[in-house]
Amino acid sequence: MFSNLVGEERKFRNLINGQWCNSKSQKFIEIRSPINEEVVGRVPAMTKEEVDEVIKVAVNAKEKWRETPINERAKILYRAADILQERIVDLSDILIREVAKDRKSAESEINRTADFIRFTADTSKSIYGESIQSDSFPGFDKKKLSVVVREPMGVVLAISPFNYPINLSASKIAPALVAGNTVVLKPATKGSLSGLYLAKIFQEAGIPDGVLNTVTGRGSEIGDYIVTHPSIDFINFTGSSEIGMRISKITNMVPLLMELGGKDAAIVLEDADLDLAARNIVEGAYSYSGQRCTAVKRVLVEENIADKLVEKIKVLVENLKVGNPEEEGVSIVPLIDENAANFVWELIEDARNKGAHLILGAKREKNIIYPTLFDYVTTDMRLAWEEPFGPVLPIIRVKDKDEAIRIANESQYGLQSSVFTNNLDNAFYVADKLEVGSVQINNKTERGPDHFPFLGVKSSGIGVQGIKYSIEAMTRRKGIVINLKK
Ligand code: NAP
Ligand code: G3H
Repeated sequence: MFSNLVGEERKFRNLINGQWCNSKSQKFIEIRSPINEEVVGRVPAMTKEEVDEVIKVAVNAKEKWRETPINERAKILYRAADILQERIVDLSDILIREVAKDRKSAESEINRTADFIRFTADTSKSIYGESIQSDSFPGFDKKKLSVVVREPMGVVLAISPFNYPINLSASKIAPALVAGNTVVLKPATKGSLSGLYLAKIFQEAGIPDGVLNTVTGRGSEIGDYIVTHPSIDFINFTGSSEIGMRISKITNMVPLLMELGGKDAAIVLEDADLDLAARNIVEGAYSYSGQRCTAVKRVLVEENIADKLVEKIKVLVENLKVGNPEEEGVSIVPLIDENAANFVWELIEDARNKGAHLILGAKREKNIIYPTLFDYVTTDMRLAWEEPFGPVLPIIRVKDKDEAIRIANESQYGLQSSVFTNNLDNAFYVADKLEVGSVQINNKTERGPDHFPFLGVKSSGIGVQGIKYSIEAMTRRKGIVINLKK
């Protein structure tokens, strides 16, 4: 099981042309667990020459894979989904140790990914082209017929973040492969062991040599090189807005699909079911310590119901279990590293210094931040605007729904928002005006189910993800025009 992937001293290898290859430079990055700093593995810090080799392999494999029938590509994906679930125990252990997921969330990530891969295989079979007759356009009659087919883009570079290292790698790899692209996966460094295990599973499922390859190394060292490599035909990136913007600045004529940061607002109107709102807000804000793009990252509540809502949220937050994700029922886990915790702490201090009311938390042990709740957060505080990616939630009191909409839209981000109300007219009024990719009515912000369109506007992304949409994004249309002798 998982043979060849890892050698002595937990040194991992990369998948290149169907082989698990040792690092040529023998430069390794230690992957330390956020739980206790133990070394869980060492991944190669690949050199530019090694990156060139990987991309060349992916280019060489393009033609054959493109010609492989969709139903055969789909069969491999079904096998990959089955193997993924067979390995759920081992993979969950890796997720727990590598990125400090609690076991329930780790298992849910793996099962969800298997469902995603199967649904992708299903969907690929009904992605069709179209035919267009010319007579709709003046002067052409039926002299021409455009047969519009879908073709793969070529080599897809998939770059994934640390927080869902299996799911957000597979949600790029599976649609790219089924659409006939070859793939180079560059997982987040913290998360790369999980990414390499996933690649191993696709290989075991029968992905031909060269069709899926991996690159490990720090984004700060090889990122610019790989994203600007002339043989990359498409970049599918998930990560921070900062890095996403950098990639969009330095690349040239390469199509981009990007899922970036967010500052999702939960807007609570006076006629809302406050128990429902509080439950959703707490689950949405604090699960996996808030390290989710779609975490609820601010609450905008009408002031006449704010006291009641804050009290309900407080009771729920008090019951959150903090600590080691290996223990049952823990949802507040250590953040990915101390730098992440330092950043969250800065936001907490800024809010405290500027007069926000601390309801709970603002306590820290190394990279564990206790669940923190602030009331009376105002728009001069960093917490009102910045994405903490940690378990801290600001409550901003507003006088009415229009003020909530205004503050929600002033954000640079536009991933999702929630609106809690029992009045459908109000729900649609708010949903219509919010500048985001999706609005959840009476639910926390969240991505799934994964066949729904998922997108961010403004600094939150480019393009649309979601199974059918991701396959479409990673194919291009080609029109073949039949000219009839009429
Ligand atoms: P990150 O620091 O932006 O890293 C994301 C990926 O980019 C990693 O693989 C990273 O590699 C790589 N990278 C870094 N510098 C690069 C460069 N110059 N060129 C190319 N790649 C580079 O983000 P993260 O900390 O892993 O994830 C958290 C962020 O992702 C949050 O902002 C969150 O909101 C966002 N996110 C968004 C979504 C969404 O769907 N909208 C989903 C999940 C996460 P290294 O790890 O080696 O640095
Ligand atoms: O971190 C970003 C994930 O894509 C969010 O997925 O809403 O299911 O946690 P989720």
